[in-house]
Amino acid sequence: MEKILDVVSKEMKQAFLTAGYDGELGKVTVSNRPDLCEYQCNGAMAGAKQYKKAPIMIAQDVVKALEGSTVFSEVKAVNPGFLNLKLKVEFVREYLVRMRQEEKFGIVMPEHPKKIMIDYGGPNVAKPLHVGHLRSAIIGESVKRIARYMGHEVIGDIHLGDWGLQMGLIITELKERQPGLVYFDEEYAGEYPQEPPFTISELEEIYPTASGKSKTDAAYKEQAMEATFKLQNGVRGYRALWHHIMQVSVADLKKNYQNLKVEFDLWKGESDVHDLIPAMVENMKKGGYAYISEGALVVDVKEETDTKEIPPCMILKSDGASLYNTTDLATIMDRMEHINPDRIIYVVDKRQELYFEQVFRCARKTQLVNPETELKFLGFGTMNGKDGKPFKTREGGVMRLESLVHEINEEMYRKIISQESRSMPEQEARETAKVVALSALKYGDLSNQASKDYIFDIDRFTSSEGDTGPYILYTIARIKSILAKYKEAGGQLDAVALQPAAGESEKSLMLELAGFQAMMEGAYEETAPHKICAFIYGLANAFNRFYHETKILTEEDRSRKEGWIALLVLVRDVLETCIEVLGFLAPERM
Ligand code: ARG
Repeated sequence: MEKILDVVSKEMKQAFLTAGYDGELGKVTVSNRPDLCEYQCNGAMAGAKQYKKAPIMIAQDVVKALEGSTVFSEVKAVNPGFLNLKLKVEFVREYLVRMRQEEKFGIVMPEHPKKIMIDYGGPNVAKPLHVGHLRSAIIGESVKRIARYMGHEVIGDIHLGDWGLQMGLIITELKERQPGLVYFDEEYAGEYPQEPPFTISELEEIYPTASGKSKTDAAYKEQAMEATFKLQNGVRGYRALWHHIMQVSVADLKKNYQNLKVEFDLWKGESDVHDLIPAMVENMKKGGYAYISEGALVVDVKEETDTKEIPPCMILKSDGASLYNTTDLATIMDRMEHINPDRIIYVVDKRQELYFEQVFRCARKTQLVNPETELKFLGFGTMNGKDGKPFKTREGGVMRLESLVHEINEEMYRKIISQESRSMPEQEARETAKVVALSALKYGDLSNQASKDYIFDIDRFTSSEGDTGPYILYTIARIKSILAKYKEAGGQLDAVALQPAAGESEKSLMLELAGFQAMMEGAYEETAPHKICAFIYGLANAFNRFYHETKILTEEDRSRKEGWIALLVLVRDVLETCIEVLGFLAPERM
């Protein structure tokens, strides 16, 4: 169904035409002075020159043409020529009735759905997940859900970092500790054991140890590089160890992402495209794109219009080793061949922006993608601590994702049990705390424009007041509790019908709801989950204002009471839809 703004604009355009003016002048926008009106139109101002008339006169003509309108209850021409508008409550009611009936509240599904790939998460195998990976996971998951809700075919790929030096480091350290392991016996030709020779906690200790040693010990680093090389070139025992590392690490990653309600469709990684590299390189050479510069194989990607220096894209190092670039390019090639997406969105730290600019240019130049394939970089800012510096543990170390999630869960639990009138059993309080904590974490992140840095403030994020996830969930819980009481008293939720708004706060609430479609479209088109947060914050505020002014359950006028219940159902459904696309859920009660 049409967006409310379009319906309203249509009425206004018709009025301009009837009054003898260009219909295009009748564009309506949401009012920026909600104290004066709900919508506004500045067409009379814009038309003044064309018609050599004072804008106020044009506005007055339009007011006349709108007499008897079924859309507007009030059209005021105000100096110097603005049109201030209010909608008829009956019109708003009808609009919401249709929203409630239609699938997805009337959002029009695309005629030609796009195939969209989202490259997000991007954890590095065997390295503990840290908060930097959190943002990619949270934002990417929401971007994926938004596009899917809007009717597109969306595939999320985790793009594991599973082929780099960290693998060589782990293998080297293992060899130091257990040189007798069969994996290191080059003569060995039998089957390797099924069981990995380490656990996840050992693995998590091995990597930082190895990484630390390689920084001070050049020979050790040399060994690690050699191990990486051997692994990539297919040495059997090393490949077997790599499988073990993957086995142990991926299981742990899955658990972590599950806790965050982040679900990938594909668990591919850099290693998956290793074998595609030689052919890709060959093509780049044959096409005349790649050439040797100071021993390395590079592709120039600078363009005449550049205002800053864009260095060439390095494809192979002088020793023939591939790079982060190379795997990203080969991954694009692989995706085009097997999935053929219309669009690939990369949700990565914004510090990698230049890098992706090079990769995208190189992919276009070497024709790895079709000319119409969209490659989009969605760069996000840093999550900082209260001191404005990248988030650290109290001891100053890198904050692990698990610890962060643990901390926020605990804080939420403390808040929940410290409430007066708390009668929730311990087990339920724990479960509820987890659900609410996830909203705190995700909303705290998503409510900021992705590209901006933000301050992780556990106290503010977990607060039940203000622009926070818990505030939204409290609002939903409040609605659910009213609806539950209504049902307990014998009411039926599907039998109630919306009524025209009886008061101001009720009408504003209805108008907020009516903006759902336009908001969702905007969030999709601009890959901007923060727009959904802003919308539900506004909606929750409008609901709470209405709630505080209205005695819903004790209302005597039956149809009015039913109308309110119907309105509550719609608010609940819209709020729950929005948090679902943001990637969290609401508990039944709080
Ligand atoms: N593993 C990378 C890192 O931790 C992020 C991967 C981003 N995605 C990509 N296609 N390069 O920095």
